[in-house]
Amino acid sequence: MNKLLGAVGVSALLTVVGLWLLRERLAASAQRPAEAYAEQGAKQRLEPLWPVPGFALQDQSGRTVTAQSLRGRTWVLNFIFTQCRTVCPLLTAKMVQLQRRLEGADVAFVSLSVDPEHDTPEVLAAYAQRWAPREQRWTLLATTPELLPALARDFHVLAEKGKATDPDPIIHSSVFLLVDREGMVRGAFDSELPEDFAALERGVRTLAALPAAAPLPDLPPEEQYHALACANCHERPELAPSLFGRAGTQRELDNSLRVTFDEAYVLESLLAPDAKRVRGYPLRMPGYEGQLTAAQLDALTRWILSRPAVGEQAPDAEVATDPICQMKVRVTPDALSAVIGGKTHYFCADSCRRRFVAEPSAGTGQTAAH
Ligand code: HEC
Repeated sequence: MNKLLGAVGVSALLTVVGLWLLRERLAASAQRPAEAYAEQGAKQRLEPLWPVPGFALQDQSGRTVTAQSLRGRTWVLNFIFTQCRTVCPLLTAKMVQLQRRLEGADVAFVSLSVDPEHDTPEVLAAYAQRWAPREQRWTLLATTPELLPALARDFHVLAEKGKATDPDPIIHSSVFLLVDREGMVRGAFDSELPEDFAALERGVRTLAALPAAAPLPDLPPEEQYHALACANCHERPELAPSLFGRAGTQRELDNSLRVTFDEAYVLESLLAPDAKRVRGYPLRMPGYEGQLTAAQLDALTRWILSRPAVGEQAPDAEVATDPICQMKVRVTPDALSAVIGGKTHYFCADSCRRRFVAEPSAGTGQTAAH
């Protein structure tokens, strides 16, 4: 009998604890980050999640854009800042990829800057021009330090200043939000996951009543290379290695293995970019699986292999390797550097610089001399 009473007592206690946990969870869900929605199956069903907050912000041409002015169109929103090196180029490449996949559709693409101090409408205009010069449907929004915290909160995303030692000065969410014509958020997607990116495109097509996905338009490989923004990363040596003049050369990977730059390797880079990562680049490359037809992939690969190196200079000129973390660093007048033993060394972050200055033997001794 005592045993029975004990069991009842324990189960009552468990029920109370269970209810308390449930209540806590519900309370937390009132302010769940967008990422929490991205993890759910909700994106498949396009359930209404929350209404976009009211806002009035300047776009890249200085015009005021409001939540109201976007009504009547399906739109896709992401969060970036133009000086970011670690994740935004990937997010913007994905945004551009989506624009190419939805060529001509009546859909708006919105990127909200999380760097009010630096990203003015002029800076955003130059960024748009660099990434998608012909795109008319892309709105880049500048904000202010006063407005940003509430905007981030109401869009359920993180946007805050990082620590001085972080490779990028701002930490922010990498979700894409899908917003319907009535201004209701209908999905949060992690664009880095191929299945999420595909679900995002499907979601846009459903909400905007567009036909099902088709392959990208056939373009000559050089145009495809530019339309997919390959050049935006691969022609900026601090972001990604140059692809030209590499055929047949050996590439060093971040696991210290070596691989020959040939057709199979280029193809694999496009389809499964994380399978083999070139050493020294914190940025990840977007995947193109399911985006290009076999013939398009083949043409692009052959074209890359046929390109000579640019100019007489080695593809990696102007770029030094941080002796501590091995990251590539662009050699500019304001790059972090230290002169030790008559040699200039360059660093990705102050933490690496301080470590090296304190103990130069901690580094590999590589310098800008290549
Ligand atoms: C968002 C930036 C970005 C975009 C856009 C991008 N890449 Fe990359 N790519 C990288 C980075 C960073 C690396 C090096 C790290 C790695 O291997 O993943 C890389 C590596 C590669 C490699 C291996 C290079 C080597 O030196 O061994 C190939 C090939 C490649 N990319 C092709 C392409 C092509 C073709 C496109 C366009 C269809 C493209 N990439 C678009 C960032 C990008």
